[in-house]
Amino acid sequence: MRTFQFQIPPKTKSLLTKVGQLADERGEAAYAVGGFVRDLFLRRPGMDIDITVEGDGLTFAEKLAKLTGSEVEAFTQFGTSIVVIPGFGKVDVATARTESYEKPGALPKVEKSGIVQDLYRRDFTINAMALSLTPGYFLKLLDPFGGLEDLKKGRVRALHEKSFIDDPTRIFRAVRFEQRFKTRIEEKTQKWLLEAVKGDYIQKVSGERLRNELRLIFQEPHPERAVLRLEELGVLPRIHPALGVPLEAKKALPQIDAAIGFFRRNQITLEEEKMVWFQALLSNPSVHEAESLSKRLMLSRPEQKIVTQCATVHPAIYGELSGEGVMVSRMYKLLCPLKSEIQCFLMAAAPTPVLRQKLAGYFSKIQKSKPWIRGRDLQAMGIAPGFRYSFILLEALNAQLDGKFKNRKETLEWVKKTFVA
Ligand code: CTP
Repeated sequence: MRTFQFQIPPKTKSLLTKVGQLADERGEAAYAVGGFVRDLFLRRPGMDIDITVEGDGLTFAEKLAKLTGSEVEAFTQFGTSIVVIPGFGKVDVATARTESYEKPGALPKVEKSGIVQDLYRRDFTINAMALSLTPGYFLKLLDPFGGLEDLKKGRVRALHEKSFIDDPTRIFRAVRFEQRFKTRIEEKTQKWLLEAVKGDYIQKVSGERLRNELRLIFQEPHPERAVLRLEELGVLPRIHPALGVPLEAKKALPQIDAAIGFFRRNQITLEEEKMVWFQALLSNPSVHEAESLSKRLMLSRPEQKIVTQCATVHPAIYGELSGEGVMVSRMYKLLCPLKSEIQCFLMAAAPTPVLRQKLAGYFSKIQKSKPWIRGRDLQAMGIAPGFRYSFILLEALNAQLDGKFKNRKETLEWVKKTFVA
């Protein structure tokens, strides 16, 4: 076991020391494991700590919570608990265990084990390292599968050939880690991964878990690379036939980040920001396919709405928007009914920089402009309420957008002249 000098924030170090001492007092051994250890080597210490206890993790977590004045939530079926330590963060505590999978994609059956077996059940060598917290062995590295060397050499390597079959969500994790750490999926691992893809094991994963994996990819700093990699590995159509990255979307990918930034700066709300990215995966689905995809991925209502509306936006929209004499009111009519996530993707995927610029101008000024007159103005002029109102208000808004009037006063005068006898 080797010892390393890590740059651990003092609060974290003090907590790890407490964890080690508590385990020792109980005749158990505790280890920091998983992403926390990997990130220490990458000099990006995270706030979430994963602890594995050789012993009884559930009781251990209760004692740790008492010792630190924290709340604890236990998941007895898996032998895991979450301790939320005030002023610190989240500590996941698990009993060292082996896992067996009754069927691919299902949740595993677990049994108590030693730390090495616990590490062996994990996804990749870089995530299968442990730091001992036992006093006298504090921060000594346990690395039975060569995770540190893989981390140095930039390799994402699975521990065994069944890894992706046992848990096909690891296909997405491999791609995510590869892009995040600018590493490469190791050759044999890629072969196992492709076998799982071709064997259609992704079909066995629940929609909720798939949706979560995609969400995690979209939260990475550069989702575009991961999206292309998923496409290259043939993963997307195995989730659903409506998924793939069409050529236009490939061209849009490098622009998405900037388009989201533009919407944010202009305070145009993107309630489902990740759905801007998601549209790059849609290979022109029909409404029926969009609905079936939404069902498969168990999308939320707002997410479903975006996917379905996206399927109704005809690619010809760009032709309609880009003509020289296109009036602003026409752009408004085409764009305003669309969800802002779709508007944002349309801007990113604009076929020419000129059109992208035109859309940027439109979104920053026009769409936000409020109508100068409202129903109450019509009422004040003595126009009887009725279906005419919507017609007059739309006409007035169109004229305002196209710059026919300079201000509210001119608009009101026009309404009076045209509609009040
Ligand atoms: N793990 C696994 N297989 C999975 C998910 C998780 O083996 N499908 C293991 C890995 O050892 C991982 C640990 O559980 O390091 C914790 O999982 P998670 O918190 O999801 O991953 P992190 O590695 O911490 O990744 P991130 O930095 O994205 O949170």
